[in-house]
Amino acid sequence: MSSYKEVYDSWKADPEAFWLEAAQAVDWVLPPVKALDDSNAPLYEWFSDASLNTCWNCVDRHVANGKGLQTAIIYDSPITGAKRKINYMELQDQVARLAGAMAERGIVKGDRVVIYMPMIPEATVAMLACARIGAVHSVVFGGFAANELAVRIEDAQPKAILAASCGIEPGRVIAYKPLLDSAIELSAHKPDFTIVYQREQKAADMIEGRDFDWVAACAAAEPADCVTVKGNDPLYVLYTSGTTGQPKGVVRHNGGHLVALLWTMKNLYNIAPGEVFWAASDVGWVVGHSYIVYAPLALGATTVVFEGKPVGTPDAGTFWRVIEEHDVKALFTAPTAFRAIKRDDPTGEFVKKYNLSGLRALYLAGERADPDTIVWAQQQLGVPVVDHWWQTETGWAIAGNPLGIEEMPIKLGSPTVAMPGYDIQILDEGGRPVAAGEMGAICVKLPMPPGTLPTLWNAEERFRKSYLTTFPGYYETGDAGMMDEDGYVYVMARTDDVINVAGHRLSTGAMEEVIASHPDVAECAVIGASDTLKGQQPVGFVCLNSGCNRPHEEIQKEIVKLVREKIGPVAAFKLVAVVDRLPKTRSGKILRGTMVKIADSQEYKMPATIDDPAILGEIGEALKGLGLAQ
Ligand code: COA
Ligand code: AMP
Repeated sequence: MSSYKEVYDSWKADPEAFWLEAAQAVDWVLPPVKALDDSNAPLYEWFSDASLNTCWNCVDRHVANGKGLQTAIIYDSPITGAKRKINYMELQDQVARLAGAMAERGIVKGDRVVIYMPMIPEATVAMLACARIGAVHSVVFGGFAANELAVRIEDAQPKAILAASCGIEPGRVIAYKPLLDSAIELSAHKPDFTIVYQREQKAADMIEGRDFDWVAACAAAEPADCVTVKGNDPLYVLYTSGTTGQPKGVVRHNGGHLVALLWTMKNLYNIAPGEVFWAASDVGWVVGHSYIVYAPLALGATTVVFEGKPVGTPDAGTFWRVIEEHDVKALFTAPTAFRAIKRDDPTGEFVKKYNLSGLRALYLAGERADPDTIVWAQQQLGVPVVDHWWQTETGWAIAGNPLGIEEMPIKLGSPTVAMPGYDIQILDEGGRPVAAGEMGAICVKLPMPPGTLPTLWNAEERFRKSYLTTFPGYYETGDAGMMDEDGYVYVMARTDDVINVAGHRLSTGAMEEVIASHPDVAECAVIGASDTLKGQQPVGFVCLNSGCNRPHEEIQKEIVKLVREKIGPVAAFKLVAVVDRLPKTRSGKILRGTMVKIADSQEYKMPATIDDPAILGEIGEALKGLGLAQ
């Protein structure tokens, strides 16, 4: 088929046939007869009559097909100077041994395993080893604090935790093991054991009998075989920010995940087996799950595990060096990374130093891609710059530009068109579709396609409430935006408390919960203000308890420290103002939206229900004191 429209229409005409055909790219133990399982609608599952093993598809089948010597993973770490290539045969051995080490210690199909690791190849090995024995992994991003790790341990109830001794950020080594130890202490649930990969930059102190050395455990282990699981058995749980401090455990099933990811590698990313695909993200995020680990490996491509930053490791030319050196065909990253590069190298001097002729396209996601950044990237790289829109919940793009089918004309500010599987509708508050060009809640008509979340871990009611209740018959994405006459989607803002800081999804509600725990704070609000580099940055407002006459600067410092300690450095929470009152409606709802507009120096309408309009002037002054609202 030659056009996007033909492909999309063919899906719409017969979704069952479309996904069964796509399913042929997977090696099944028992192939599916049916694609969609709607027996429990509006909760849907895919490929529940089939069985497979995800690790077999990502590793063993390539070895069996004679590609054992092909590079599976390129590890490039400008932050440590390390570089390493791992072929599919070596990967198979490493994964099977780690799987064996876990199995010997009692891990069986369905058990949860938490993974807390930096961007080293062993993180990928850890995920695949879980998949191999049917264990359900839950990767926690290294930039989260012990408390966030503890919350996830308590919810996922892992039998084991796989970790590395440290992560490395520019200028500092972060000892992971003390964070892990304190998370285990904080959590009511305790894992049976941990396996720790000792890095030379900082070795971890081990607890005898509970903590096992990774290398020794793998060397001593019998390699484990792939365990067959059902298409609708969970592969992983990935926690993401919701509106409260309790993150949502997004569940991913084995079968639909592989089918959808393989479809995207060819049709969206236009990558062939054997080519190098690089997602410059982190295994702690969904982009890392889907496009550092599972999709490129399932296809038999080569993936890049990059441990570094777009700038400063050592300079704004790092991305270009990696592309040239490893012959990267497509790069996927967050717009923030490009804004950082552009800030350091506005005229593209570093770009000129490298031969980027092998690069065919750049893909951006994770946050809104501003037109300036897209145009700069287009000019510098001379390849299509594809903005595509998705979420942890979907695991793959809801809208994008399917370069493997047809390059659609790019409209700046739009992540282009709906991918097959997604019937995107823009709805008004009453759930009625709005006209083209009008703003509304972006929703997807049920059922959602394979690979998307079937439910939340241990929280089906929360799943229904968060996504299925506001607009019956639809999945509520939590994003607001519009669609034009040509079907191009525009994603403008979140409808909830989620903000996006440097492409990292964070909850202002969670930050408020932490700040409210400070003994001097009577009330607080956190908003996401626009930031030229990170897209958004959190800004806090606190009202102090009456009678508190401690110096404000002291309290502000404590609050910044508290958020860093409780949520982690990734929250990038640096700005907090002490105010007398918060602007509220007469019914007591804090007017966060209006505060955001003031912070961003945008015009705003005085909310009709505001309790006392004078407060907005005070908020403006407080924001000026923080260097905002200028
Ligand atoms: N482990 C520990 N700490 C981490 C971390 C990790 N894995 N990742 C980030 N942090 C820390 C940073 O060191 C920083 O700490 P600091 O406050 O002491 O400086 C803090 O968390 C905030 O990090 P970040 O918001 O990333 O800011 P930064 O100034 O370090 O870097 C960019 C800015 C733009 C270079 C960086 O955000 C980036 O590369 N963004 C791309 C985002 C991306 O790939 N997102 C994935 C979704 S596709
Ligand atoms: P995450 O679950 O961390 O991937 O974050 C998902 C959210 O990031 C989405 O719901 C959007 O709010 C935002 N997002 C992701 N990609 C885009 C994009 N291409 N354009 C606009 N917003 C995006």
